[in-house]
Amino acid sequence: MPDARAAIDPAFAIGQVDERLLGSFVEHMGRAIYGGIYEPGHPTADADGWRRDVLDLVRELGVTVVRYPGGNFVSGYRWEDGVGPREARPTRLDLAWHSIEPNAVGIDEFMAWTRLAGVEAMLTVNLGTRGIDAARNLVEYCNAPVGSRYADWRAANGHPEPHAIGLWCLGNEMDGPWQIGRKSALEYGTLAAEAGKAMRLVDPSIELVACGSSGSKMPTFGAWEETVLDLAWEVADHISLHCYYDPAEYATVGDFLACSGDLERMIQTVAATADAVTARKGSRKRIGLSVDEWNVWHMTEHRAREGLSRSFRRAPAIAEDEHDLADALVVGCLLITLLRHVDRVRIACLAQLVNVIPAIRTLDGGPAWRQTSFHPFADVARFGRGTVLRLELDGPTYEATGEGQVQGIEAVAVHDTEAGSLTVFAVNRLERTLDLELKLSDLDDLTATEQWVLGDPDIHASNTALQPQRVAPRAATAARVDAGCLSVELSPRSWNVVRLSRGEQPAAGA
Ligand code: AHR
Repeated sequence: MPDARAAIDPAFAIGQVDERLLGSFVEHMGRAIYGGIYEPGHPTADADGWRRDVLDLVRELGVTVVRYPGGNFVSGYRWEDGVGPREARPTRLDLAWHSIEPNAVGIDEFMAWTRLAGVEAMLTVNLGTRGIDAARNLVEYCNAPVGSRYADWRAANGHPEPHAIGLWCLGNEMDGPWQIGRKSALEYGTLAAEAGKAMRLVDPSIELVACGSSGSKMPTFGAWEETVLDLAWEVADHISLHCYYDPAEYATVGDFLACSGDLERMIQTVAATADAVTARKGSRKRIGLSVDEWNVWHMTEHRAREGLSRSFRRAPAIAEDEHDLADALVVGCLLITLLRHVDRVRIACLAQLVNVIPAIRTLDGGPAWRQTSFHPFADVARFGRGTVLRLELDGPTYEATGEGQVQGIEAVAVHDTEAGSLTVFAVNRLERTLDLELKLSDLDDLTATEQWVLGDPDIHASNTALQPQRVAPRAATAARVDAGCLSVELSPRSWNVVRLSRGEQPAAGA
């Protein structure tokens, strides 16, 4: 008897995976830019200072859209400081991260980097210390054809063609007491509506994301979204969700592995709130969800050693998490949760990409390597394309503090009808091997052709500069399709990818 069962049927379709579900985030924070994506003089740097080793890993990760330049940073940022001749750019104090910002990288450089990385840009405007004027001027600088002041300035800076940025965030975490220029929901909603209106008058094609709550534990969570959407209804295409999970806040690994339940509820709550506003307005508009910051974050661990009382420094090491296997499994569970909501979540950004709460880490002048959490993301970016199919699991559960009974297995399937393939992503949260059986309806001509497992006897194993491949996916061949049933053994506390297609099923143990 298998430990867990479910049926996979193309009729149980949730929705199509939007490309932009696999986004990430690069902020002027710590060593994300300086020492991360940009390091002139590094052995792999190109003529413009971009680290090619990092670019290779970004492409391998499969990121589709990258949010920039913040984050908390944007709420004190003057975008004009980062354009034009480098030698004329001011050095500023960044109050968000208590750092010195040299402005060597600005919007034009970031757009050059996105072209090298093959990603779309998602730009955040400053609605903290600035407002409507700076925001609409930035849209003009980026998106208008030459013939007006800011578009001509861009051309004079060497970019006659518009950057054509389609996705814009109306500020960042404006409900947070830590935010420079924090606002009440009433103040923010009113400002977002007017800033969005002006930005769209410059370029009617842009998509706008209004700030939702900074987290589900914010005291105004829910009420904030309702007021903001009510006020910024005309301009908002999406509302943002931010969520970070700190392992130190959970008593056991089992509790930590269950934290995706919070994202699940957050998505449902924000969607319901947006729908309530829609109904009240007698509208048919469907507000999208933009989970534009999500990840594990070892915040407690860093807070102790990164106190912001020290002097201002250039590119200090901030939030350089070393992700272990447990973190990778949580990232896997969060990815599965996002996939299960593709009918509503339009955009999602793993926060962040390099060095800061990173998927990729680097040393100044040294190597770049993949964190454990890099792997589930890269797997979903590579194989999670097509239609997400619902899986209702009947399997073992366990008690997790604050979450109640939690499934031992978190799983989802993605059907690529064009390629005629199916991919199952599954996390085994339990400390024992689980046999999973999936009955294939209308897909029984497929066989298990590829399988990868990310696991380790030590749940706290991680990758380091010295051991960059300590935790890496290994190929397996145990998954079988027999009589229309996929059987797969999920090793203890592991991330699993099983690919089904019309190819040859490798011999077990091959
Ligand atoms: O991603 C790090 C920080 O987390 C961002 O700057 C902010 O938006 C969030 O609080």
